[in-house]
Amino acid sequence: MERTFSIIKPDAVKRNLIGEILQRFERNGLRVVASKMIRLSREQAEGFYAEHKGRDFYEPLIEYMISAPVIVQVLEGEGAIAKNREIMGATDPSKAAEGTIRADFALSVRENSAHGSDSPESAAREIAYFFSTIEICG
Ligand code: PPS
Repeated sequence: MERTFSIIKPDAVKRNLIGEILQRFERNGLRVVASKMIRLSREQAEGFYAEHKGRDFYEPLIEYMISAPVIVQVLEGEGAIAKNREIMGATDPSKAAEGTIRADFALSVRENSAHGSDSPESAAREIAYFFSTIEICG
């Protein structure tokens, strides 16, 4: 069993798509083992996306991520990291495969509805950034 970190992003929360997105994860064998709705502070968003600091999309990305609440969650399942990214589709919705979350719901490369960890190292860092071990119900 593997764990990954997921965010249902502001554009999806604002459009009432939380259930639609969760259903995609659950139908594909991922289990929610931790979840909370939060409104990110600027500091939290900047820390989370620190690796992108200095990129031209960084400031608008931070503004977007603090513009409305998000759902942060830990998903568990076999090959959860890769499976989550497959269910989400490519970062740019115009390149995302048919039937993926981003192909179906994302508005742009920024407002792309979901985030998922891209490696075991990112998953460990991102889970620990938002959850303590006692908040994860494995
Ligand atoms: S990269 O270029 O490979 O480092 O990009 P990636 O790892 O896919 O993550 C980029 C995250 O920044 C968000 N974002 C954008 N990316 C590229 N271009 C533009 N204009 C842009 N605007 C925002 C993108 O949605 C990725 O967010 P996360 O939450 O990591 O999926």
